[in-house]
Amino acid sequence: MIRNRFSCYCILCALFGLALVMLLIVTPTTAHGQGGKGGVSFINDVAPILQKNCFACHDAKKKKGKLEMTTWEAFRKGGSREDPIVPGKSGESGIIKVLTSNDTDRMPPKDAGESLKKDQIALIAKWIDEGAKLDAGIDKKADLVRELRVRFVAPQPLVSYKFPALINAIAFTPDSKKLVVGGNHELTVWDAATGQPIRRIFTRAERAHAMQFMPDGKLAVAGGRPGQEGDVRIYDINAGTAKAHGGVPSVDGVNDKTVFLKELLQVEDSILALAVSNDGKKIAAGGTDRMVRVFDVASGMTEHAVENHADWILGVAFTPDATRVATASRDKTAKLWDLKGKESLLTFPDHQNIVNNVAMTPDGVFGLSAGEDGTIRIWQATDKAKAIGKVTKSMAGHGKAVFRLASYNGAKPLVASCSADMSVRLWDPIGGVALKTLTGHTDWVYAVAISPDGQFVAGGAANGEVRVWKTDGTAVVNFNATPGYVAPKIETPKK
Ligand code: HEC
Repeated sequence: MIRNRFSCYCILCALFGLALVMLLIVTPTTAHGQGGKGGVSFINDVAPILQKNCFACHDAKKKKGKLEMTTWEAFRKGGSREDPIVPGKSGESGIIKVLTSNDTDRMPPKDAGESLKKDQIALIAKWIDEGAKLDAGIDKKADLVRELRVRFVAPQPLVSYKFPALINAIAFTPDSKKLVVGGNHELTVWDAATGQPIRRIFTRAERAHAMQFMPDGKLAVAGGRPGQEGDVRIYDINAGTAKAHGGVPSVDGVNDKTVFLKELLQVEDSILALAVSNDGKKIAAGGTDRMVRVFDVASGMTEHAVENHADWILGVAFTPDATRVATASRDKTAKLWDLKGKESLLTFPDHQNIVNNVAMTPDGVFGLSAGEDGTIRIWQATDKAKAIGKVTKSMAGHGKAVFRLASYNGAKPLVASCSADMSVRLWDPIGGVALKTLTGHTDWVYAVAISPDGQFVAGGAANGEVRVWKTDGTAVVNFNATPGYVAPKIETPKK
């Protein structure tokens, strides 16, 4: 079974969706017309329904039935038939016919999913009967996906969750005393010794996929909303005026400009990988659009944007001098890039399966990569004696996919890995040997971090659980990082 950490768990999603619907029912709608006195708005009310249910087949690429719906102009031009909208006359509009049809022409097609809900169809009909107008200020040729993204308002995280939120990213604060965990439209901060919640920081991104503190103490986070948008943003997690939310001091990292400091990137799908250079001057990021981007942090400018992987980029790492970047990809390779010459120096094919993450040794001589094959491979990352790409060590032990690597670049370098085998492991990346196997997690461990002082390691799992150990292997604390969620007692399975 391949469980995908980039898509949602159906049950969870359905339940969150339900919670959202309930919320919409109990809170009076303010932002959108929804057929209220302002009338039905195309962009706020109709387009989101079309985006969710129709754009997949009716975008500029697929154009099923020759119909493209992602710009107003194309939508109204119609497909093999005429304009699907007859303003003022929902009963005569092709779109209502296909939405309400019981025949093979039903949209979405029967084999592709359920028909739209009655109230959704009624809303579209009402919009047509009100004249089927495009909202003022939107160009007829404008990309509707972009228009929707611009208008997206991040929901406030729930005060308290009934279901655990999967963890994709975790980081120790620079003082090694706290942990930042990626949640649902928020980052949560916890005491790394006691597991007590300290702060919640609301974010535009639904998920944090990777994060790293910069030398100045600010936090760089890559994330997004699956299939909708992706971003790289910089936060000051200690700033802002905190208000209690579920009893925990919380700040608005969406609007408060003292907390949300800078956006380096906004694209149309999730950013999954991020790395900060040792001097803090550059940030590298990659994601579903297969581009490796390198930003100059001070100016916010994109210095490099190269597309060379054939599939999603899942991991990035700088060499210590930041002249090179290593990347890991779903295309089953790791690569090494020269940022000055703007060329790919190495394509590392040995995993022969999805490569989830990369790291570098502190001296920049070796690259480490790991993925679905469960083995961490160490390879030459410098050109000395033309040995670049030569495998020097393979570290086996994880029985299943390795998701993430974390490095500690102190006097005695350490690498931590986390896996679908529910363990976190510590390795000596120079000697290429296993040091510790840290167990206790009861679900796939998607995120791992080593504290900046090299004393602690933490894992974050699909069931929201965080476990902290000392790097000597002693367990410190475990807690669920989903606000308000109380995990049921887990019975130890019988042999
Ligand atoms: C899984 C793919 C898929 C999805 C999702 C989908 N469609 Fe279609 N659509 C098609 C195909 C295929 C045709 C062509 C059918 C034919 O010509 O027999 C079509 C044709 C149409 C047509 C007729 C176009 C013309 O001029 O002939 C309309 C209108 C339409 N779709 C609207 C919608 C709407 C509205 C939605 C969302 C609620 C939607 N479709 C979702 C695949 C899809």
